[in-house]
Amino acid sequence: MVHVSFAYASLPTGTPRGLERDMSIPPSSPFTFTLAGAGCVGTAVAVLLARAGHMPVGTASRSAGSAERAAGLLGAEAYSVARLPPADVVLVGAPDDAIAEVAGLVPAVRGSVVWHFAGARGLGPLEPALSRGALGAALHPVQACPSIEAATLRLPGSAWGVTCSDELREWAQVVITGDLRGIPVTVASKDRPAWHASSVITANGISALLSAGERVLGSIGVDDPIAVLGPIAAGVIANAREAGGATATLTGPVVRGEVAVIERHLAALEGTEGRAPYATATRMIIAAAVASGRIDNETAAKMSALLGDER
Ligand SMILES: NC(=O)c1ccc[n+]([C@@H]2O[C@H](COP(=O)([O-])OP(=O)(O)OC[C@H]3O[C@@H](n4cnc5c(N)ncnc54)[C@H](OP(=O)(O)O)[C@@H]3O)[C@@H](O)[C@H]2O)c1
Repeated sequence: MVHVSFAYASLPTGTPRGLERDMSIPPSSPFTFTLAGAGCVGTAVAVLLARAGHMPVGTASRSAGSAERAAGLLGAEAYSVARLPPADVVLVGAPDDAIAEVAGLVPAVRGSVVWHFAGARGLGPLEPALSRGALGAALHPVQACPSIEAATLRLPGSAWGVTCSDELREWAQVVITGDLRGIPVTVASKDRPAWHASSVITANGISALLSAGERVLGSIGVDDPIAVLGPIAAGVIANAREAGGATATLTGPVVRGEVAVIERHLAALEGTEGRAPYATATRMIIAAAVASGRIDNETAAKMSALLGDER
């Protein structure tokens, strides 16, 4: 562990006195932290870190309202991004394209950790802070976070993609497993886009498929489609987790080789907005069924022909 002293003179104008002190690399626990970009993920992670005993010393965002909301949740002060007090850890909760701008504005001194949450980005966008001596951590929670409340509830138990320098690796693992109750997975910088694409296929793909299923049920007058589809969607995920993978637990007419059932579905959906998502999903199901040896090529070819595809 290396100890570095904050020089008070290097603190930004407006920094409250009393924050000049020794820093250690990596930060020792409990650590001080600030939040720059007070949206769903950043605020939820800040709340979880505070619950774990770490010390919030300031929040900032594009709008004063979001900064103040987070400050209220954390019992901290709201600042503008450039006037945040220095801290051991700076959480950058801004959207992917704003990370570099925020990293260039936050106080970043030697030894402080600047941490963003973007799945598709490695340490690159943190360069404006790294060039001032900060350490970078790209720690991405693999969870769908539509609100601060949902994120706070669901981040514990979620996996985290970890891209950082060797000197931060153990620290990041301890914070994720111990403070955030998550599961760290090391991801090379070059692999971050593919890492994130898998979350998008799965999480946003499931939402889009559910939305298409809801609309088909709505078209035949079912009042509460998600009450019908929610349990089957949850069951599919539970089945895959229990079996240790999704392919082995694929069910339905494709893996049963029921060409006539698919023909009836297509006839029912012809001319409706459900036809296109059904065809897209069925192509993916056929590919998974063939790849796992659940149906032969001849059966797959008959199903594909119904969709107007050649195999
Ligand atoms: N949501 C998810 O499911 C999810 C999951 C994993 C990772 N992530 C990652 O988490 C990060 C944040 O996503 P999010 O979903 O939490 O977004 P979000 O709810 O839209 O929050 C982003 C926040 O950043 C603030 N902001 C925007 N531009 C800024 C700037 N130039 N300076 C300072 N603050 C700025 C916004 O401020 P105002 O509110 O003040 O306008 C907003 O509060 C992204 O990198 C994203 O890829 C998201």
